[in-house]
Amino acid sequence: MRERSRVEETIYAMQRAGAGSLQVISDFDMTLTRFAHNGKRVATTHNILDNRLLINEDCTKKMRELLNIYYPIEIDASRSVEEKLPLMVEWWTKVHELLIQQKIRKDLLAQAVRESSTMLRDGYKVFFDGLAEHQVPLLIFSAGVGDVLEEVIRQNHVFHPNVHIISNYMDFDHTGVLRAFKGQLIHTFNKREGALSHAAGLRELQGRPNVLLLGDSLGDLTMADGVSEPQNVLTIGFLNDQVEERKETYINSFDIVLVKDETMDVPNAIFRYIT
Ligand code: C5P
Ligand code: MG
Repeated sequence: MRERSRVEETIYAMQRAGAGSLQVISDFDMTLTRFAHNGKRVATTHNILDNRLLINEDCTKKMRELLNIYYPIEIDASRSVEEKLPLMVEWWTKVHELLIQQKIRKDLLAQAVRESSTMLRDGYKVFFDGLAEHQVPLLIFSAGVGDVLEEVIRQNHVFHPNVHIISNYMDFDHTGVLRAFKGQLIHTFNKREGALSHAAGLRELQGRPNVLLLGDSLGDLTMADGVSEPQNVLTIGFLNDQVEERKETYINSFDIVLVKDETMDVPNAIFRYIT
């Protein structure tokens, strides 16, 4: 924590206002899902699609090549967001074009999720169930693939009615074959635009000026930009990768930084206190 007293005061203020004034806005990949498990990286929603059921070997190879080029850029502490922006658009656009060429079938997505290495963070059930029980809206704001994300939380039995999702959704033709992606592309560094155009209009989030925000990327900090007249905003950043290079920036940007923490323990403790 950069400023422990600010964190404490924000949590006290949130507790005084109660669950009825709170909304939770969270990133998905590597925030609600684990970064690694037993020393191996856990699949992101895009990487769950890397399954022979859905894509061929050539597509796997091309997607991995793109990941090897663009992921280091995404997390590079020495480059500015302005510099990264066009490169992220390039990455997402190329991957989505590859996926469309593969004629992915909607009816096979659930099986690909079941066969994948994806895992929500330890304590996820307490987190999702607690928010649902107190009717606190959870906005999941993801630059991943919405259809896959939904299936992950459905298979983990936490797709409760208080969950709202903004993400990249697949557009299937009448035979259930992928033909495009819907709406405006969401990547790591344009969540502000999505927040203003989508989140700001969600009725369930109105009148809740206190925000608990969870993310793993600096781009996630803009996810609350659509909240009108925010009062108390507490941001928690999961620092998973390039820890030493990024620690200072993260501490200067998020209120709380969790280093290589694969659990929901801290968000759960804060929520338990607030309610
Ligand atoms: O849910 P979230 O916004 O975190 O999803 C985006 C993440 O997915 C990025 O952090 C990026 O590293 C990852 N990604 C990926 N493969 C892609 C594009 C993005 O693993 N083709
Ligand atoms: Mg993420």
